[in-house]
Amino acid sequence: MNVLAPGSNQVGNAVLLPFSNLQTLREQRPLMFVGGKGIYTFDEAGRDYIEAVSTFYCVNLGFSDEELIEAAIQQLRALPMYPSGIHRTVPVVMELAERLAEASPVRGGHVMFATTGSEANDQLVKFTWYANRVAGEPQRRKIISRRASYHGGTIATTALGGSAALQEAFGIRTDDSLFVTHPTWPIGALPDETEDAYCDRLVEELRQTIEAAGPETIAAMIAEPVSVSSGMFPPPKDYFPKIKAVLDEYGIRLYADEVVTGFGRTGKMWGSQTFGVEPDCISCAKGLSGAYQPISAVVMSDEFYSFLEQGSNTAGIFNHGGTYGGHPVSAAVALKVLDIFEKRNILGHVQSVMPVWQKALASLEDHPFVTATRCVGLAGAVQLARPGEGKAGASPSLTPGGLAQQVYEAGLAAGVVVRPLQGSIVLAPPLIITEAEIGELARRLRLALDTVLAAG
Ligand SMILES: Cc1ncc(COP(=O)(O)O)c(C=O)c1O
Repeated sequence: MNVLAPGSNQVGNAVLLPFSNLQTLREQRPLMFVGGKGIYTFDEAGRDYIEAVSTFYCVNLGFSDEELIEAAIQQLRALPMYPSGIHRTVPVVMELAERLAEASPVRGGHVMFATTGSEANDQLVKFTWYANRVAGEPQRRKIISRRASYHGGTIATTALGGSAALQEAFGIRTDDSLFVTHPTWPIGALPDETEDAYCDRLVEELRQTIEAAGPETIAAMIAEPVSVSSGMFPPPKDYFPKIKAVLDEYGIRLYADEVVTGFGRTGKMWGSQTFGVEPDCISCAKGLSGAYQPISAVVMSDEFYSFLEQGSNTAGIFNHGGTYGGHPVSAAVALKVLDIFEKRNILGHVQSVMPVWQKALASLEDHPFVTATRCVGLAGAVQLARPGEGKAGASPSLTPGGLAQQVYEAGLAAGVVVRPLQGSIVLAPPLIITEAEIGELARRLRLALDTVLAAG
């Protein structure tokens, strides 16, 4: 079977496509992409799509950056692979660690590389347990996260986020997890509750959760500065400073999952800087290499790292790693991303188009399906509901379905790829998007909304 033949209608169901219906996979050929340029991708029929969520919030510098491609080729020619471990590494990995540590919002950063965001968060959990054992507090294992957040697909990270339904479906144990409410101001507020009162209620919920579980059993809290999977609700202004104050009281560390928010998405280099998060450790991935190569990292504070060092001195080595953690080609590309941020002033560009982006999203508010729009840096969400459904719509969940899913499908036909989540359409276009392209994105999105409206 030649599934690659142009115009082929072959289904080719040998592959298990993630986050897809596996029965549909037997009957319907998936959408196949064969090329990309700037913010656009092209399918096998030659149709173009604006990637309004940078695929999986990752292709932040677009699909045809010659400098990134060249950086990969040069490293492939010089030394295509050498694992980092057993007191051996390559210069690009060392240099990337230095520059990432320097750029990160973590004090005295130490960097451990991996390949995916899930793996970075997973090893953060593993390192936490290690550090606490070394510190003589092995009972401090529990990690607090927010319901409806997403921190990855490994066993440990599935236990940290997502929905209870997801954990149940895969039989994931959550003994070491604690969950608190994710801020969704104003949808989550009680009638007449002010933003301050709403924030204080969530902070109080955190305190009570800690007290109920026993503070001495809790190691850390992990949070995205602003969460895509929860529908891109910017936290109330005082949320993170107040959360941090409570955590500090109980000796609980704060980890920022910057897998999506890192590298300019929120208008600053890190989401932590935009939302006043003071993390002990961060995880990052995706934008780190503009997603041209798989690479992720955990950046740890000096204080945290000192326990890993101490443990390694006692045991002889720090006994964790992987073949592709800090792959030289990925590291070379990531280094080039950091260069490009400086050379092309990517943050300056993001800040300059943010007002246009905000206006473009707000312009959709007159549509009968749009109940609100939210804007964070070069990301945002369009909250959807059919008239009479209430502000959050009928399907505020991680599971596809309802109006948001219909708009997603109409978006594909209109040539714009969006992400339906929590009753909203989430957006995070490549950071290189121009003002004119933002206009075109909004035009295609309105076309999708109108198509669904016309279908009744
Ligand atoms: C906030 C967040 N953390 C972690 C991950 C996991 O990253 P990966 O898919 O690279 O494993 C994701 C993926 O979308 C994410 O959105």
